[in-house]
Amino acid sequence: MSQTWAISGVDLHLDLRGSRVRGALETSLRDAVKGGRLQPGTRLPPSRTLATDLGISRNTVAAAYAQLVAEGWLEARQGSGTRVAAHPARRPVGDRTQPDPPAPPRFDLRAGAPDVASFPRAEWIASARRALRDAPAAVFGYGEVRGRRELREAVAEYLARARGVDVTPDRVVVCAGFTDGLRVLGLALRAGGASTVAVEGYGHRLHREIVAAAGLDVVTVGVDDDGAAVDGLGGADAAVLTPAHQFPLGSVLTSERRLRAIEWARAGGRMLIEDDYDGEFRYDRQPVGALQALAPDHVVYAGTASKSLAPGMRLGWLVVPSRLLDAVLEQRVLGGAPSTIDQIALADFLRSGAYDRHVRRARLAYRRRRDRLLAALPGLRVRGAAAGLHVVVELPPEMTEREAVDRAHRHGVFVEPLSAYGAGDHFPALVVGYGTPPEHAFTTAVARLAAALTA
Ligand SMILES: Cc1ncc(COP(=O)(O)O)c(C=O)c1O
Repeated sequence: MSQTWAISGVDLHLDLRGSRVRGALETSLRDAVKGGRLQPGTRLPPSRTLATDLGISRNTVAAAYAQLVAEGWLEARQGSGTRVAAHPARRPVGDRTQPDPPAPPRFDLRAGAPDVASFPRAEWIASARRALRDAPAAVFGYGEVRGRRELREAVAEYLARARGVDVTPDRVVVCAGFTDGLRVLGLALRAGGASTVAVEGYGHRLHREIVAAAGLDVVTVGVDDDGAAVDGLGGADAAVLTPAHQFPLGSVLTSERRLRAIEWARAGGRMLIEDDYDGEFRYDRQPVGALQALAPDHVVYAGTASKSLAPGMRLGWLVVPSRLLDAVLEQRVLGGAPSTIDQIALADFLRSGAYDRHVRRARLAYRRRRDRLLAALPGLRVRGAAAGLHVVVELPPEMTEREAVDRAHRHGVFVEPLSAYGAGDHFPALVVGYGTPPEHAFTTAVARLAAALTA
């Protein structure tokens, strides 16, 4: 039989089976003190009361208390009963418990995610409710492999208006975020005879792995303040680029390089994949339009809701050139598109203007966060356009990336070195994401990072 009882509002679980009742009581109390659920100074019930509550003998309780006093977890004082010891962490002789591992950093300043606490729940619920109420029953069937028509139309309208994409709903393929889109594109390219794909020298390792998993050789092209060095694309069959905001260095692909990339693609009948992961967030000027509009037959445009709304949605979209469309849909038949119910909710969210409103609010909030972060790090050079949800911060002279990351950890902050995103001859730097912490934690997170880098 097991039982739960409470001391000072803390629920404690006790396994009363067999002859080890005393041992179980000791373990339960010890764990509660060790784990901090019973705080120093908390008064324990008199042994008689606890024994009655639990239906066990008073001697058993008294013996368990005595053992824990001997181990240093509890203190017994004449006249004031038994309490949790003032310094229970003092380990008793003979206790072989390993020291507790250091607490994980509390503030997440890694790049990659938006402030998920600001997800527009009420507007999403309204969209989901409207969409479900009005949807034909067919929505609940298997649906079209390229995605629900409602969503493809809404995405096409949005992309043409907001990102200047050359798009018709028939060329939109709904996917589970960019990651899924890239996987499908890799397989489609491979099936069409491609053997090599170029990726930017700095980027997500996962993206390189996805391309390689499709059976393609991955080559890298350098990146500098003008974006990807597209003259180095050489003999690859396709290239994955982040033209609006290089990830993670933050540069914007210059118009000259855009034209050269298009020439490269046209000359060899090649394909560019434009990863427009955070194109909505540009703070100093109007966002640069999509590269895709310059050559819709040679560029696959890829967008995602992961930064603008939430990565947990797993919703993204490809705009695929007609000549690659069948190959992409063939791969799609083998793997599932996202839930049609989420798709129709997103279609309503886009159509109703809720998406634009949310993006406008988020843009303002992230712009302010970026300004606050920069103001907190005076004297440190920050790289990249005023855009997106992250910056690259150059380290003070003499500070290595390892040292900076360790110092940040000691200040309770998770942050990643630039070298986590690529190997190159780069300056020592951190990639600092300012999207993730909830608003109430942002000031502290930034202050702690500043303290770590300037102390
Ligand atoms: C460069 C880049 N591309 C794309 C994505 C989005 O991937 P997904 O849509 O699979 O969440 C991210 C998100 O972290 C990113 O940093």
